[in-house]
Amino acid sequence: MKHIIISGGKKLQGEFEISGSKNATLPILSATLLSDKKVQLKNVPDLLDTKSMLHLLKSLGVIVDKKLFKEKKVLNLNAHKITSLNAKYELVRKMRASFLVLGPLLTRMGKAKVSLPGGCAIGTRPVNLHLQAMRKLGASIYIEDGYVTAKSPRNGLVGNHIIFSNISVGATENAIMAAVLAKGETKISNAAREPEITDLCNFLLSLGARIEGAGTKTISIQGVSNLGSTSYSILFDRIEACTYIVAGAITNSNVVINLPNSNSDHLKSFLLVMKKMGLNFKVIGNKVKVFKGQILSPIKVKTEEYPGFPTDMQAQLMTLMCLSRGTSEITENIFENRFMHVPELNRLGADIKINGNRAVIEGNRKLIGAEVMATDLRASVSLILAGLVAKGDTKINRIYHLDRGYENIDKKLSKCGAKIIRGFTDE
Ligand code: UD1
Repeated sequence: MKHIIISGGKKLQGEFEISGSKNATLPILSATLLSDKKVQLKNVPDLLDTKSMLHLLKSLGVIVDKKLFKEKKVLNLNAHKITSLNAKYELVRKMRASFLVLGPLLTRMGKAKVSLPGGCAIGTRPVNLHLQAMRKLGASIYIEDGYVTAKSPRNGLVGNHIIFSNISVGATENAIMAAVLAKGETKISNAAREPEITDLCNFLLSLGARIEGAGTKTISIQGVSNLGSTSYSILFDRIEACTYIVAGAITNSNVVINLPNSNSDHLKSFLLVMKKMGLNFKVIGNKVKVFKGQILSPIKVKTEEYPGFPTDMQAQLMTLMCLSRGTSEITENIFENRFMHVPELNRLGADIKINGNRAVIEGNRKLIGAEVMATDLRASVSLILAGLVAKGDTKINRIYHLDRGYENIDKKLSKCGAKIIRGFTDE
């Protein structure tokens, strides 16, 4: 089992280069199944989740050329020939986003069999909204032996009006991908507005899809009969950027966060919270500069769909709140079980109490290093952040969660002065 040990108390100094977005990469990789022409993707983050999605795509017949991947973050893909319509359990269970191959396979090939992803640490995470959207486009759906089998009508999916009862990022993405090759017009109401959805739509537009309204609550798609070829650069990872802003804030350091090809507007709700807490920072062009010397105030925050405060930054913010001047509160509105980091933070000396979907965080804590367990991606990174300020050594076990979503986090932090090493424990 891999672990990370951090010796806390070091100031950080330097620049963090932000990688391509995990949550844009995964749907865009799925969307490569929609075209039978060559596709080039740039700025692809080298993550475990990227590897899992590539593994799945290969199992479906996609040719993946990784020659330029390690050095240049470039992938060349060719889904000319789909050889399987079956996304198997052992591939899907590793990563929920695998379910995003349903829409593309169904709309291009007329049939798909995709394993149900099952629950995960942060909640039950059903897929009912994904299935409703496919049904609305004319698919018949059967669930048997843990698999969803979806079939299009004989002449393919047909555009329709999909009205989501709740906002879902993944269901919006699956619906968009299915609709781009459906006949006629599809309108999606109550769509998710995350920047990663806009990135997926920009990628599809570059392939020749016809989509309007990405980034708003209503998306309109005119189906086309086939898609072409493209070379597309993936959006930067806004959650990674915000995480390193917290790393600067929590260690009271001067750091710079570099956002390539970016729009710092995507960080707006997070930066507003930082401003209210009293963090000293400046946004200059593509950079966010964090300055030392601040005393942070407590705050009440609730997580919401974009453009609200992201659930994916909840755990990291909570760690920062442990060091602010008074009592803070977080209400988690997106996932029912996303406080798994709380007992681990409390082991490091935090004082956090949970009441339903509300956490009350006492500030002014002095954290002290201990051995802790990572439970999910964002929980893991909240422990890394705690380790940066805790007295002594913090050992974080099960860090494969971290490698799913943060590219080279130990190297990026070490480069800026953190004392952080990776190791391996026999179990
Ligand atoms: C995506 C992100 C994840 C982020 C989440 C919310 C990716 C790969 N992952 O996950 O990092 O935390 O958005 O911003 O982009 N729901 C249903 N039925 C469904 C689908 C979802 O009830 O069919 C519920 C979920 O249980 C959850 C809420 O809707 O409570 C939001 O989930 P959703 O937006 O779908 O999250 P993901 O797309 O899985």
